[in-house]
Amino acid sequence: MKIVMLGAPGAGKGTQAIKIADKYGIPHISTGDIFRANIKGGTELGMKAKSYMDKGELVPDEVTIGMLLDRIAQDDCKDGYVLDGFPRTIPQAESLTKALAEKGDKIDCAMDIEVPDEAIVQRMSGRRACPKCGATYHIVYAAPKTENVCDKCGSELIIRSDDKPETVQDRLNVYHKQTEPLISYYKNADVLREVDGTKELQEVFNDVVAILENK
Ligand code: AP5
Ligand code: MG
Ligand code: ZN
Repeated sequence: MKIVMLGAPGAGKGTQAIKIADKYGIPHISTGDIFRANIKGGTELGMKAKSYMDKGELVPDEVTIGMLLDRIAQDDCKDGYVLDGFPRTIPQAESLTKALAEKGDKIDCAMDIEVPDEAIVQRMSGRRACPKCGATYHIVYAAPKTENVCDKCGSELIIRSDDKPETVQDRLNVYHKQTEPLISYYKNADVLREVDGTKELQEVFNDVVAILENK
């Protein structure tokens, strides 16, 4: 099962992708997480990505596409994966389609999580993230058991540097301009499925599973 998660920043792509990956035993591949790990590790890739991410802009396709195609060529991806945050531009989607087509393969489902912009800004202000294992929390909607401590690995939670309200607005603008056209792209490929992302997170997941299991 090869799944692409679509949706605005903060729609819940990561939250749902982690649950899908757990349930079906496939890797969760988040380009944002890969960039953040590289920034933390001080790699050359991280240095390239940081200046764009801090401004809420996209990292250039030349950097991102190769990185993602290398990742999905790894052994753990042979039975499928859930992509979170990729593709984000039409050229990224076309490169992915082409790389898969060369092996007679394709994306099975593009899951668009729909949340209006107004709700996004509120969600982001309450998000907390684990810098070690990537788990995501919300101080109201998905609070950790102990305040500011990751349930999974015990690390102290952080506020992502691109979650400042002014950067969130920039990320939303970039989303509408560069990423939203992917909805039509995957609709044309006949794999688009839409879920209402404003529901409570377990309800959203139930809807996601219903879609995946009806395929
Ligand atoms: P990335 O890390 O992908 O960020 P994003 O798309 O902006 O998405 P987020 O991770 O912010 O949101 P999400 O949809 O995963 O929501 P979450 O589940 O956390 O990318 C960061 C940056 O990296 C980009 O800006 C860009 O610079 C660069 N980049 C990455 N990929 C790239 C690419 N392919 N090309 C170029 N550049 C790239 O949920 C949000 C919050 O809401 C959480 O607190 C959560 O607990 C809460 N929540 C989730 N669901 C619900 C619900 N149903 N009800 C209530 N609260 C909920
Ligand atoms: Mg995310
Ligand atoms: Zn953790």
